[in-house]
Amino acid sequence: MKVLIHPTEDAAADCVANLIAARLVQQPDTVLGLATGGTMEAVYRRLIGLSQQGRTSFAGVTSFNLDEYVGLPPTHPQSYWQYMRQHLFDHVDIDQTRTHLPLGNTPDPAAEAIRYEAAIRAAGGIGLQLLGLGANGHIGFNEPTSSLASDTRIKTLTRSTRDANARFFASLDEVPRLAITMGIGTILRSDEVLLLALGTAKANAVARMVEGPVTAACPASALQMHRKVTVVLDEAAASGLALRSYYDEVHPAGRDPAS
Ligand code: F6R
Repeated sequence: MKVLIHPTEDAAADCVANLIAARLVQQPDTVLGLATGGTMEAVYRRLIGLSQQGRTSFAGVTSFNLDEYVGLPPTHPQSYWQYMRQHLFDHVDIDQTRTHLPLGNTPDPAAEAIRYEAAIRAAGGIGLQLLGLGANGHIGFNEPTSSLASDTRIKTLTRSTRDANARFFASLDEVPRLAITMGIGTILRSDEVLLLALGTAKANAVARMVEGPVTAACPASALQMHRKVTVVLDEAAASGLALRSYYDEVHPAGRDPAS
């Protein structure tokens, strides 16, 4: 795992946006795995800016989002379809017919999950997977105790995840209890992973992901088994890391000589 620790949230978000933009310049037909959530908003704002300045383009991209709430139609204001349109798709030159999210309001969510996994495979798999991190160590909606070999499927959200996401809904009762999510196996099959975590609320999960044992109790720890993972952090999110001086020595202030 490459661990890049930046002094501020802004610097960390800049780093992630620049890495994605550079990848799209290098490989315009990248299959991108996308995430939602508060952390990604800063990344998408920057990508819109870079795209408007002509410094990158989404024209050749195919995208697959990690997850969607079961029960919400794509038109629901809190659906991840709407999130993606609002925060990225409507503002860049992406071909929206090549953007994919699981369909939340299907009569057969289990069949939808199987269809979605097959669609990812048919597209040749994910080239670059963008991830946020749950305070409980989830990636996508793979909650603690998720199988580390899982494919896209339905997961029941934990109370802590529903509490964390209640800020986007009128009340906790409105937060769906189920989601369709790419599995940990799906994520591990991607060619490359780029994870962004910000703030002290993520510090414990970051330490367990990077330095803890590989365990279903912290699904993100499965990323230790992936060949190419870059973890981008701000100071606060990095505050629980024991090997901090090592990361600083290899990548001072989050700089990556390889990029
Ligand atoms: C979103 C997703 C989640 C979030 C995570 C962090 O598609 O899959 O894993 O990345 O819950 O969310 P924020 O950024 O809101 O703290």
